[in-house]
This record gives sequence, structure tokens and C-alpha cells, in this order.
Amino acid sequence: MAEIIDGKKIAADIRSSLKQRIEELKKTRGRTPGIVVILVGNDPASQIYVRNKKRACEEVGISSRVHQLPETVTQGALVSIIEGYNNDPEVDGILVQLPLPEQISEEQIQNAIDPRKDVDGFHLLNEGALFSGRSGVLSCTPQGIIELIRSTGTEIEGKHAVVVGRSTIVGKPVAMMLLENNATVTICHSRTPDLADKCADADILVVATGQPELIGADHVKEGAVVIDVGTNRVGDSLVGDVDFEAVSEKAGYITPVPGGVGPMTIAMLLANTVDSYERGH
Ligand code: GUN
Repeated sequence: MAEIIDGKKIAADIRSSLKQRIEELKKTRGRTPGIVVILVGNDPASQIYVRNKKRACEEVGISSRVHQLPETVTQGALVSIIEGYNNDPEVDGILVQLPLPEQISEEQIQNAIDPRKDVDGFHLLNEGALFSGRSGVLSCTPQGIIELIRSTGTEIEGKHAVVVGRSTIVGKPVAMMLLENNATVTICHSRTPDLADKCADADILVVATGQPELIGADHVKEGAVVIDVGTNRVGDSLVGDVDFEAVSEKAGYITPVPGGVGPMTIAMLLANTVDSYERGH
């Protein structure tokens, strides 16, 4: 029977150590770390995410400002607002909540943010830094996944890690981070034949496909570390990309949904903000 990786508790521990770190840093810097979250339009899911981010910031002592803009804002106006925050020394982190309305290019907006203040890690320079093994801001969910794997005491070096999913925000960056940690990495996706056989060779299995319960016991090696990034609404309940009941009989460690990867994303966002503050951008 697998041990459950308690993402909620691990994220709470990270927040509490960030809180202490902030208190220490404030004594020498004489200023509070700050993040600006730019929210365009009235998407209800985005409003909830932004509210949760704001609450988490307050809890650790990061001052947060939500800059609300109308759905009709132009690309030029949004870029000017971002540039204002790029030049504001009191702003350590800038996050533009996605998705954005049609008239705006998400890519151009991500790249308008000063890469040092890009606490999402979505700027092309930060993505490029990860892919070329240089230091940059790491994006939050993949970084959270690495922390969850480490929390089990599993050494990543030398292990076979299989990542299912090749998205820009999770699959590809987490594969690169596992490689940086000296795992042997296989990336699988929707066109991969014999998925079960490939997954069943994994010591570490990370699943980020958005397909409810795609991964069953046949896909999992005895004792493997299984990280489920999926959050799929099926009827009234939330399920992962992994069949939790079946796989927990076989895996060594497994993340629950909810309460696994989800809480880590915000914890890493806070960590990226504090890092930017500490570096002085
Ligand atoms: N929308 C959903 N998830 C995210 C995220 O991690 N960052 C941003 N900026 N927008 C999102």
C-alpha cells in the first residue's frame, strides 16, 4: 500500500519557513516583499485562483496587489502597465493571470515582464535558462513536483523518470528539471504506443495529461513514486489522471487529488517572489 504524499502539509511547511525568512529579511531591507497580480476580465475560475494567491501572500507576509483590468483592455495598455511594474523597485513579482482575452497575445505579455520578476517562470528567457541548464526562475508547478518527489527521500539521480504529457507549463519543464537532477527521462504523450509498458518501467512517474484516470495499476511499477498533476472534474467529484484506488495498491508513494500537487504551485510562487526580493531582482 502506497504512502500518501501530503502536498497540503508540505506546502504549509514551506509557507511557514518562507514566513520566517521574510521576517528576517525585512529587518535588514526595511521593506516588505511585494507581488502584483494582474487580472483581466471576470473569469470566475481566475477570480478564485487570484483570491487564493492573495490570501497565501498575506499569510506569509508578502504584500499583494491585484490590478484588475477590463476584458476590453488592449495589448498596448497591458504592456505599459507591466512596464510600470518592471520599473517599480517595490514590486518583486509580477504575475498575469491566464487565460487572457482573444485580442491579447499571451506570449507577448509573458515576455513583457522583467524576467527577474517573472514569478510564474513563463518568460522565454526563464524557459530557455532551464533548457540550457542555466539559472533562471523555475515555473511553479514543475518545481513543486520536484519538491514532492524529494519529500519522499527518493534520490532522483540515476532513476528512470517517465513523464506523461508534454505541455509547456508542466510536462516539458518537469522533464528538464528531472534531467538536471540526473534522472534518465522518458517523455510520453498521446501518440506514444504501448504507454503502459513504458510507464511500468518508471521509478518516478509524473502524469500531466488532463485525461481522467488514464493511468491504472498496469502502468505502474511496484514501489514507484507516482505524481498526479491532473485535476479533472467528473460529475461532482475531482479526479486525477491516475486511478488512485488501483495505483495506491502498487506504488510506493502517491499524491492524492486534491491535496497533492495543487497546493505546491502557490507555495512555489511565494518562494519565487521571496527569491526575487532577496536577490534584489
Ligand atoms: N492560470 C492557471 N494557472 C495559472 C498559473 O500558474 N499562472 C498564471 N499566470 N495563470 C494561471
